[in-house]
Parts: sequence; structure tokens; C-alpha cells
Amino acid sequence: MSKIAVVFWSGTGNTEAMAQAVADGASAKNAEVDIVQASDFGADGVAGYDAIAFGCPAMGDEELEGDEFQPMWDDVKPELSGKTIALFGSYDWGTGEWMDTWKDDAEEAGASIAGTVIANNEPDDEAISACNDLGASLA
Ligand SMILES: Cc1cc2nc3c(=O)[nH]c(=O)nc-3n(C[C@H](O)[C@H](O)[C@H](O)COP(=O)(O)O)c2cc1C
Repeated sequence: MSKIAVVFWSGTGNTEAMAQAVADGASAKNAEVDIVQASDFGADGVAGYDAIAFGCPAMGDEELEGDEFQPMWDDVKPELSGKTIALFGSYDWGTGEWMDTWKDDAEEAGASIAGTVIANNEPDDEAISACNDLGASLA
């Protein structure tokens, strides 16, 4: 059985709904899944999981959330070389630029990216389904 972490930050619940859908998709494939707040995760947690899904909405100016998610991300990044990860998050008025930048950053860290999902504001049925599939792909 694979062990998956879904690590996320969410201010108004949209990325949290995506996190739950990613976890549901992994659970449906019999993975053991931990859903973890970004502030409760760090570099020492990475080795305990076969794969990790990270979720963060577009914040700042097409950036990751700065107080809790970005520091966690900077901490775990050196541990992600060769690790299978997925990225997801919600956005509003932009075009998803934050996800492109984030994905490039993860690739530079040497992570193997199973997939990414972005949702405009509250995830609709299509986005939830894409998150289910993303979780399943990690399991
Ligand atoms: C301070 C702040 C900055 C934001 N910056 C962006 C942005 O650069 N681009 C964008 O598309 N949406 C931006 N948004 C919108 C959020 O990404 C959007 O509301 C998202 O659904 C929030 O997800 P959450 O419910 O998981 O917190 C911003 C929202 C806030 C509050």
C-alpha cells in the first residue's frame, strides 16, 4: 500500500476542497493518505511518503502564499529530488501563471511531477474529477 501526503494551504476553502478530492482519489486506489496543513509539514516529513500532493492557491502577484506555504515549500524543496509529486490549487483573475512558475521550480528541484490541476475559484465537478484522478495517479 502506498503512503501519500496531501499538503495544502487554503484561505477560503477552494484549495481545501481540491485537497479533499485529491485525497479521495488516492484513497479509492487503496493508498494510505494523510491530509496535512502546510504549517504542519516540513523537510523531515518527505521521506515518510511514497508521493506527495501539494496544494496552494495563487496569492500575492501570481505567487505562492507567503506566510505558511512558501516557507514550507522552501524547506522541503531540497528533499524532493527524485520524489513523485503533484501540484494543485485555485485561482481567480489570473491565467494560472503561478502554477507554471511553481511547476518550473519543482522541476528544477528534481521532482517527478505526476500532474497539476488548477481550478478557477470554487472547484466545479470537472475540477473535482481532475483532482480525484490526480490523487489516483499518485497511489
Ligand atoms: C491576497 C490575495 C492575492 C491573490 N492573488 C491572486 C493572483 O495573483 N492571481 C489569481 O488568479 N488569483 C489571486 N487571488 C485569488 C485566489 O487565488 C482565489 O480566491 C482562490 O480561489 C483562493 O483559494 P482558497 O479558497 O484555497 O484560499 C488572490 C487572492 C488573495 C486573497
